[in-house]
Amino acid sequence: MLIVIEKVLDAQEVQDFRERLSNARWIDGAPTAGTRSVSVKQNLQLDRSDADAVELGNIILRKLGHHPLFISASLAERIWPPVFNCYQNGGHYGTHSDAALMRLPEAGLTIRSDLSATVFLSEPEDYDGGELLIEDQFGAQAIKLAAGDMVLYPSSSLHQVASVTRGQRICAITWMQSAVAETAARALLFDLDQSIQALTPARPEDDPDINRLIHVYHNLLRRWASP
Ligand code: NI
Repeated sequence: MLIVIEKVLDAQEVQDFRERLSNARWIDGAPTAGTRSVSVKQNLQLDRSDADAVELGNIILRKLGHHPLFISASLAERIWPPVFNCYQNGGHYGTHSDAALMRLPEAGLTIRSDLSATVFLSEPEDYDGGELLIEDQFGAQAIKLAAGDMVLYPSSSLHQVASVTRGQRICAITWMQSAVAETAARALLFDLDQSIQALTPARPEDDPDINRLIHVYHNLLRRWASP
């Protein structure tokens, strides 16, 4: 299940991010890849302790924490501090899967990565290549979004970032542990919730059918959630 969430950051915020990031201290991203991933990863990253990374990452986390579509789609319990990266001059990240367990000892944080997210910060017309290629049951999907938009996808999927052959592709990525680990169960809950949201405005308050659907939603969530 791939879900695009538009305008996580608005145009002004994207511009502010890009100004901050143009003066940031980019370092080689390969050392943070797993041992097998090192040979396929070629990009630049901000160090986790970098003041810009921490501050901008917190802005994204605050936005996501209040975003109804993100909450409904992810049912996120724990979110990894966003990582900023930059691909240019042929930079790419070959086919890989993300680590299942991620530990941040200094924050006392361990997450099981259920969902991965990429927030695009460069406009698609400003670079060639750089598609995020995600393999799902229907084949590889090529994702290249407007600046400020985000894609959510299962961390269990194989994925890659195609070579950037012109310009610069800057993005923020993060991972989250969901209250519902199973992708298929989470997808059903998301569909049900979205339909309830769509039907509710046209119905009277206290509509018995809507109430029953909400009842079903919460009892499925109760059955499947393991916070
Ligand atoms: Ni990845």
